[in-house]
Amino acid sequence: MDAVYQRCIHPACGGTHALDDTSFVCPRCGGLMDVAYDWERLPRPRSLRDFEAKWAGRSNPLHFSGVWRFRELLPFAEPDKVLTIGEGQTILQRADAVATYAGMQPGNLFLQYEGLNPSGSFKDNGMTAAFTHARIIGARRAACASTGNTSASLAVFCSATGLMRAIVFIGSGKISYGKLAQALDHGALTVQIAGDFDDAMQRVQQVARKLGIYLVNSINPFRLEGQKSIMLRVLEALRWEAPDWIVVPGGNLGNVSAFGKAFGELAVLGLLPRLPRLAVINAAGANTFYQLYEKQGLRWNGGSPDQTLIARYVAGLSSDKVRAATIASAIEINHPVNLPKALRALERCGGVVREASDQEILDAKAKVGTGGLGCEPASAASVAGARKLCKEGVIAPGERVVCILTGHQLKDPTATVAYHSTDQKTFDDVLGHRGVRRATFANRAVQVPNELDEIIKAIEVYS
Ligand code: F0G
Repeated sequence: MDAVYQRCIHPACGGTHALDDTSFVCPRCGGLMDVAYDWERLPRPRSLRDFEAKWAGRSNPLHFSGVWRFRELLPFAEPDKVLTIGEGQTILQRADAVATYAGMQPGNLFLQYEGLNPSGSFKDNGMTAAFTHARIIGARRAACASTGNTSASLAVFCSATGLMRAIVFIGSGKISYGKLAQALDHGALTVQIAGDFDDAMQRVQQVARKLGIYLVNSINPFRLEGQKSIMLRVLEALRWEAPDWIVVPGGNLGNVSAFGKAFGELAVLGLLPRLPRLAVINAAGANTFYQLYEKQGLRWNGGSPDQTLIARYVAGLSSDKVRAATIASAIEINHPVNLPKALRALERCGGVVREASDQEILDAKAKVGTGGLGCEPASAASVAGARKLCKEGVIAPGERVVCILTGHQLKDPTATVAYHSTDQKTFDDVLGHRGVRRATFANRAVQVPNELDEIIKAIEVYS
């Protein structure tokens, strides 16, 4: 067995693949795969603090990248094979105003702002890793299904490197213009399916298998290797001391799975004595994980989650013709492909799942905005969820919390403008049918005639 290989996530199965396999499913049981490392045969980082030394060598692109700076913790590629476009230059910002809104003490809430990535979302952390693997195996075409950010990221990586052709599958009318614009502008072949993300996800897997196209959705375990680095940067910003909670929006459940794997490996390597707890926040209109985990008690169960329970739930969605529906279009997903890995992550880190309504998400988003960072609706689910967990007393008053802001504000300006609109019809058209009743923190444009006195009067009144 090589020191790096792919291994089925279910301990009792034991299925493996070599590093260069691209089916991303277990040959024995059809389950999900991990990238597995035999740490006895690999150079082990002795201390997390050693990574800080890389800052001094930032003229080397591998040290500059916020992902590959930590490459000893994702050692599946030789350095000369790595493809980086400068991803992962993101920040952890203390957010006191948002803390107050969420019911926490100032100084206890931090926002990890992944909107600063080259394509404007956390996806670039994973894409650099998947892209690197695709290069290793010599792929010429790469595909994904997407609610918009994976496709934007893939399109950027393909156009920036010129190494592969991007093929992106999107649901019809389901993707925000900011994200669609990226796929089109960066030259991706954009295939619009008459269906939603869940339909597109099924199709892209069939097509990738049939045509031998490299798949970059988060079912690809190399994607998740890159996304582990989000947690490494959080820890680094907190001087290598774990917070009490990481709160993350849940869609296809790739992030939470990657975070759980990162913490599991740090624990095995003896690099992190205390792990944070994980909270996943679904949108209420796309709440499969919340329903299964919190309402029906589905658990990892030592690697054997109750498949009958899952099958019954999925059959119910289909017989009732339930479709995911939320303003947080990035997480409008009812069939998360990483469900078992997410269960494992929550088991490892004492996790919880909550749901947030579109009203709660947009109000939280407005507070994030006035707090200094701009995010898209899905990202604000993390803050809405943290607020809920504080109210419930699950997050205790003195605990330190990091909410992940997964995507940039400009990804989806439609929802933001509708929320702050002076025009009731604009509000109703975009948000009314989502059950959003009010723009609690609206910052409405002030309408004034084009007259100096009137303009001055308005400024005096409103400022
Ligand atoms: N936040 C944003 C901004 C996203 O784009 C996504 C997923 C998530 C959260 C959920 O993350 O899947 O790891 O649980 N977007 C995917 C896409 C599905 O196609 O862009 P997850």
